[in-house]
Amino acid sequence: MNKPRIILDTDPGIDDALAILLALAEPRASLEAITVCYGNCSLDQGVLNALSILELAQADHLPIARGADRPLVQPLLLAPETHGNSGLGYAQLPSPELLPDPTPAVTLLTERILANPGEITVVAVGPLTNLALALRTEPRLLEAIKDVYIMGGAIRYDGNTTPQAEFNAYSDPHAAHIVFHSGLPITLVPLDATYQVVFTSDDLSRLQKLEVPLTRFIADATRFYMEFHDEYQQISGCVINDPLALAITYLPELVDCQELYVDIDISGGVSMGKTYADFYGLLEKKPNMQVALDVRPREFMEHFLERMEWLAGSLS
Ligand code: RIB
Ligand code: CA
Repeated sequence: MNKPRIILDTDPGIDDALAILLALAEPRASLEAITVCYGNCSLDQGVLNALSILELAQADHLPIARGADRPLVQPLLLAPETHGNSGLGYAQLPSPELLPDPTPAVTLLTERILANPGEITVVAVGPLTNLALALRTEPRLLEAIKDVYIMGGAIRYDGNTTPQAEFNAYSDPHAAHIVFHSGLPITLVPLDATYQVVFTSDDLSRLQKLEVPLTRFIADATRFYMEFHDEYQQISGCVINDPLALAITYLPELVDCQELYVDIDISGGVSMGKTYADFYGLLEKKPNMQVALDVRPREFMEHFLERMEWLAGSLS
């Protein structure tokens, strides 16, 4: 299988940070660029976080491009209660010396995808504003993007932002609607799958056997995230949504997908941002995505931990 060439669109965020680290630690994936969006924290903070994470991982060769600082239509919603004011929980990384790429995210996405038609996989683990804007700005992307993996939505699962809606979808439901109906080959990784993947204190203890800056970062970031999951959702550990979406690009066997017609409510009522699948074909519409509804959680977690141990040992 060819190594997926990935542009990661992200709102870094604690689990986003783990997805970036996993992409950098995984030889079967080629992370080629990062585009940043508002979401877990502000755009400005997210860009600083992405730069700091690259410096922590000694991966300062990667371009990081600034994207949207707010949704297409909805008011801006951030998640300090979940990811902390910094977006990285209790972690305190040095201010980055790296600078973001001068190219705006939409331009970077467009230029790199058009220069490599059929080659680039977009992994979107934040609100879909950047991807939606790129598709509207340059329709040729619809033929040029190889495939799209989206962490977002909740199908047969409760929302985590409203009772019905998941954070990335709810943050910009209009952007999600544009992407969902674009005709692109999409694999959706909703909360149905990601809430089966809980990073526990035992998992953290395993990583902390290596006392290095990387594991200290993971500990400080996930400690805040675990406190949130305990207080708000009575989960012992933290759900690491984004690394799962990233891993599926090179380990598709981690999940079981169903080909379904999926839509998102943009009608503006109590179910705004709710994502739903037509399991029985009632709408008589062609399926528009693969949906990961089941996962092998401990297989994924073992993979993630092994890669973090490798990365921690590889950094000087
Ligand atoms: O609902 C979980 C998703 O929203 C994750 O991607 C998390 O990082 C936030 O962006
Ligand atoms: Ca995210």
